[in-house]
Amino acid sequence: MGDAVAHVLALNGYTVTLIDVNEAALKQGTATIASNLQRQVNKERITDEERTATLDRIHTHTALAEAVSDVELVIEAVSETTEVKGPIFETLDEAAPDDAILASNTSSISITWLAAQTSRAGQVIGMHFFNPVPVMKLVEVVRGLDTSDATFDAVENLALDLGKTPVEVNDAPGFVSNRVLMPMINEAVFCLMEGVADKDAIDTVMTLGMNHPMGPLTLADFIGLDVCLGIMEVLHRELGDDKYRPCPLLRKMVAAGHLGRKSGQGFYSYDG
Ligand code: CAA
Repeated sequence: MGDAVAHVLALNGYTVTLIDVNEAALKQGTATIASNLQRQVNKERITDEERTATLDRIHTHTALAEAVSDVELVIEAVSETTEVKGPIFETLDEAAPDDAILASNTSSISITWLAAQTSRAGQVIGMHFFNPVPVMKLVEVVRGLDTSDATFDAVENLALDLGKTPVEVNDAPGFVSNRVLMPMINEAVFCLMEGVADKDAIDTVMTLGMNHPMGPLTLADFIGLDVCLGIMEVLHRELGDDKYRPCPLLRKMVAAGHLGRKSGQGFYSYDG
């Protein structure tokens, strides 16, 4: 998701550095941005000049500490585990300027916990974007226990400047978005596992009956089944209520490597 966030920032005039330890991932991210910008040119949403200027505002770097030494804001979008995010927040705290804001695009990890890995809890906040980022209007702006009003205001204003609608949410497992969305997706997988209906029928009920743009199983494939499982595990563990128990079929599909669109196979097949 990091490339999509960089896309939106750069398109709105901000200079952005995409950071990843892996050079190939940076090349892939930049190529994705170029292709999504081209899609916007083809749809006449932006001009060819805007596409070129946007790409010129995006730089890449593989060394985290060096790359953040002169920034005003970091938006972290690494893997959704505390083992990966914790040390990154420690490094950001050491390497970024004292007044920089450290935001996370996490979909379920506690902002308060991330803040506690730093010595600047007042400047740590959640900035949760939604896929596809260039299209979706929402940014959940998540306040950790000690997030300052100044940090909240800065991130809220940035979201508005990006043409998004920021919504204030307090730190809680899954925030609002995934607290509501993921149990619906999980329940759809239970319906499939129990033979209540087949996958097309389940998705059709929700697209035609509830006017959702995608059925829950299509949406799960779009988000990534591993991401859905990870969020259900956080809800189950942190809230301690069995109503959040991940569906065994979801676990089985992730164990098989059927992760949705990104792996070519999820509830649906994406070969070719
Ligand atoms: N970059 C730029 N533009 C894009 C894009 C991308 N990656 N993907 C789609 N678009 C644009 C298209 O160009 C098109 O633009 P115009 O309106 O200007 O023509 C528009 O989006 C609609 O796209 P399509 O016509 O191709 O397809 P669609 O009408 O079926 O819409 C969709 C596609 C926007 C993805 C729609 O199906 C949808 O809204 N799905 C639900 C998405 C959703 O729920 N996202 C949240 C997931 S949860 C999450 O992200 C967070 C988490 O924590 C798990």
